[in-house]
Amino acid sequence: MAKRPTRLRRTSPIRQLVKENRLHMDQIIYPIFLVAGMGVREEIGSMKDQYHLSIDMLVKELPLLQSKGIASVLIFASTDHKSIDGRSGSAPDGLVQEGIRAIKSSPVKMTVIADVCLCQYKEDGHCCIYKENHEIDRPKTLEVLSQVALSYAEAGADMVAPSDMMDGRVAAIRKVLDVQGYEHVAIMAYSAKYASSFYGPFREAAHSAPSFGDRKSYQMDPANRREALREIDLDIEEGADIVMVKPAMPYLDIISDAATRTKVPVAAYQVSGEYAMIRSAVDQRQVDERAIYESLIAIVRSGASIIISYFAKDIQALIDKEASL
Ligand code: PBG
Repeated sequence: MAKRPTRLRRTSPIRQLVKENRLHMDQIIYPIFLVAGMGVREEIGSMKDQYHLSIDMLVKELPLLQSKGIASVLIFASTDHKSIDGRSGSAPDGLVQEGIRAIKSSPVKMTVIADVCLCQYKEDGHCCIYKENHEIDRPKTLEVLSQVALSYAEAGADMVAPSDMMDGRVAAIRKVLDVQGYEHVAIMAYSAKYASSFYGPFREAAHSAPSFGDRKSYQMDPANRREALREIDLDIEEGADIVMVKPAMPYLDIISDAATRTKVPVAAYQVSGEYAMIRSAVDQRQVDERAIYESLIAIVRSGASIIISYFAKDIQALIDKEASL
């Protein structure tokens, strides 16, 4: 008897019926870049259709985001208010803290996740504090990171997302949150975060490019696969509620390993360089818009159940279109 897999591809309803993976807006997190001031909504040069938003403009935009199906946001600050040790990141009236409060007091319901790192707050743009001898000052770094995370929790964040890749930071943050009465605040850990060139556009958006050296001494080597599992295991041991792989598309094998290996939800970050690349190929009509859907369903297929994506505002329309094909 002839084998005919094409029988199940004949009609659109049959294709829908046998679809193995689905993309849904519930899985999507939208990254947002806050800036100081009022009335600011400026397109970010390196990231088309992404904006630097002042808090009032973000609040105005929340109903639109909700109408596009977005239920979760990841908050970053683009600030020139820097300090030597990054401690400015824990100011109760900082941009992220005020932003969290504003979103949480708006009638629009959003899950608010705050990225925790020092690079946005440090003069040298690094994610850690260095000692005189240029080695990482781990205790001091963990102390400041925990204070930043605590201040986000105090402002009302549902989750904090440490993106610094410092050893021991999940445990340090968990401990401070628990002691201070924030045991309900979840930690989404950037567990397998690679030293990637795909972060280029973000660093312009977040004003966080390192002023010397690079991040290879703390972010992972793109050549390494098994080491990602070690990082993921450690973060779960330390109390991570969700683990993340970042970037996404060039690291689908890592997402797949993480999903097979762990019992916690796996998130993947489709980063700024992936966004910029696909966006410009679509805009120049080198590929059609469905490439965006394809890039996202590939991430789901590989095992991530949560996706952070700058395409968030476009995804519902793409899902609807795909269902009609
Ligand atoms: C901060 C941070 C970065 C990203 C998220 N959090 C940049 C970096 O590590 O250099 C990258 C996000 C993106 O490229 O979209 N540590």
